[in-house]
Amino acid sequence: MAAETVVEATGVAMRFGGVNAVDGVSMRLARHELRCLIGPNGAGKSTFFKCLSGQYRPTEGDIQLAGESIVGLEKHDIAQRGVGVKTQVPSLMNALTVHENLWLAARAVRSRSAAAVKARVGELIDALDLGPIVHRPTGLLAHGQRQVVELGVVLAPDPWLVLLDEPAGGLTRSEVERMAELVTALAARATVVVVEHDMNFVRRIAHAVTVFHQGRILTEGPAAQVLADDRVRDVYLGKRR
Ligand SMILES: Nc1ncnc2c1ncn2[C@@H]1O[C@H](COP(=O)(O)OP(=O)(O)OP(=O)(O)O)[C@@H](O)[C@H]1O
Ligand SMILES: [Mg+2]
Repeated sequence: MAAETVVEATGVAMRFGGVNAVDGVSMRLARHELRCLIGPNGAGKSTFFKCLSGQYRPTEGDIQLAGESIVGLEKHDIAQRGVGVKTQVPSLMNALTVHENLWLAARAVRSRSAAAVKARVGELIDALDLGPIVHRPTGLLAHGQRQVVELGVVLAPDPWLVLLDEPAGGLTRSEVERMAELVTALAARATVVVVEHDMNFVRRIAHAVTVFHQGRILTEGPAAQVLADDRVRDVYLGKRR
């Protein structure tokens, strides 16, 4: 039997004035799939991502998550349905420690008991190896550490769908490796969509890749095949319009 489809976007378009930022994108994701969205600057990746997370309401088309349309729902309603989002904008509370940030995020699931919140925070500290910095204010952390803590905050409610916009942005080579490991491990318990420019990271994850270009899907397939495609190289080099 084919794997269950849990994300289904159909003919999604998003216009800003005269700009077709996303121009008729259809995409299906299976449960526990890990999908990378790549493409040159301005290709429409973040805009499509924001349609999935509810930050934007698409001008056209439909998006179904776990079989229900989410078009028109507020961001927090989508989050309540088990969708975790890391945007390109930092979201940590700088004056609070790593532990406090994780605790607040874990507590956002109203049905959790105090013991369950504590257990979830402990799991995250272990899984992300945050023990050594757990009592430091996040405002004092290095960029790479902050990115891992941000991932922890997104994962704290235990989302079934995780949307990550450039999790490897600004990381050193070894930090990219580590982030790729964490994101790969995540696919064992969630469906994951990653927007990323870092080809090293995409190669390292090596799952299915969708290439955006001028608001549309240029091609889609296994990472090795897509990254070897001349058309993909051309759009990155600006040779193809
Ligand atoms: N809020 C907005 N208002 C007007 N135009 C926008 C808005 N957001 C994005 N755009 C335009 O839509 C197009 C797609 O932008 P988007 O941010 O989705 O690209 P991207 O693929 O995420 O690029 P990058 O790799 O640089 O992050 C661009 O032409 C951009 O200028
Ligand atoms: Mg973007």
